[in-house]
Amino acid sequence: MQVATGRLMSSPSLKGRDCVAVLDFSRRELEGIFEAADGMWRYVKSGTDLLKNKVLCTLFFEPSTRTRLSFETAMLRLGGSVIGFADPSVSRTVTGETLADTIRMADYYSNVIVLRHRIEGSARLAAEVAEAPVINAGDGSQHHPTQTLTDLYTIRKEFGKIDGLRVAILGDLRQARSASSLAYGLSLYKDIQLYLVSPPALRLRPEVTDHIKSSGLKAIEASDVIQIISELDVLYVTRLQKERFSDPSEYERLKGSYIVTPQMLEIARKQMIIMHHLPRIEEIPIEIDNTSHARYFQQAANGVPVRMALLSLLVS
Ligand code: NCD
Repeated sequence: MQVATGRLMSSPSLKGRDCVAVLDFSRRELEGIFEAADGMWRYVKSGTDLLKNKVLCTLFFEPSTRTRLSFETAMLRLGGSVIGFADPSVSRTVTGETLADTIRMADYYSNVIVLRHRIEGSARLAAEVAEAPVINAGDGSQHHPTQTLTDLYTIRKEFGKIDGLRVAILGDLRQARSASSLAYGLSLYKDIQLYLVSPPALRLRPEVTDHIKSSGLKAIEASDVIQIISELDVLYVTRLQKERFSDPSEYERLKGSYIVTPQMLEIARKQMIIMHHLPRIEEIPIEIDNTSHARYFQQAANGVPVRMALLSLLVS
């Protein structure tokens, strides 16, 4: 009994749960996922049979490189199989099949569903339709929980903690779902100083700032990263979300409005890390890759053990 309780304390059962938004989990549950991810490194290259005979269905209605490939890798390394599509034009959705019907089928064919969709709320709808766990691989501009799990895990791995850190999120805070999702995730931690750095037109949306305020997370808005870079432990950079602008001239106007330069890094703390959900366009020039601050490729690599942990906790 004691042993069982002890296990539960460190790794709460998430079996059958959905992962639609990062706030679907408590801080303790996130810690359980991170501990499980630490344990997955030993299988990242060699594999295990933890999810043998289980099937993951990936439904990507929007483009993806890292998220889809890391989910597929994670499932294959866990001994399971993967079905699905990376391009909706090869699916029956082009003939007008509803998302709910597509999800019903995926539910019959698999044990866990990963969905990426342009429309906010799609993953919540899918979770209501499916019996199997549904994992949101990004819907609309607000939620991308597995990116946030990867981001928080990366920060925890670098600093040994998340509480008390000074974190800036830079760029397209209004439309990059990784940005809102990270702000939601950080609201579960203590004594974080958050800086929200963006051109005025790209500020975080009111529903996210309202949540931040009500959670007690200290956040300061700034328009230029140079004002605060010397304070930071983490500089999290986002991509200008070209495809989400309804007015292309607005994209052209904002293009290049925030770029991290090697000169800026001269006043940064030695231990400050630069993160990015990737893909980057021009906001982090390649010269930055060789600095001691760059962590975005490591961050992407961390996505595999984190997704292995999540899949194994939801499915096995
Ligand atoms: C992002 C996404 O689709 O939200 N990619 C990712 O998952 N790492 C970010 C982006 O496309 O800018």
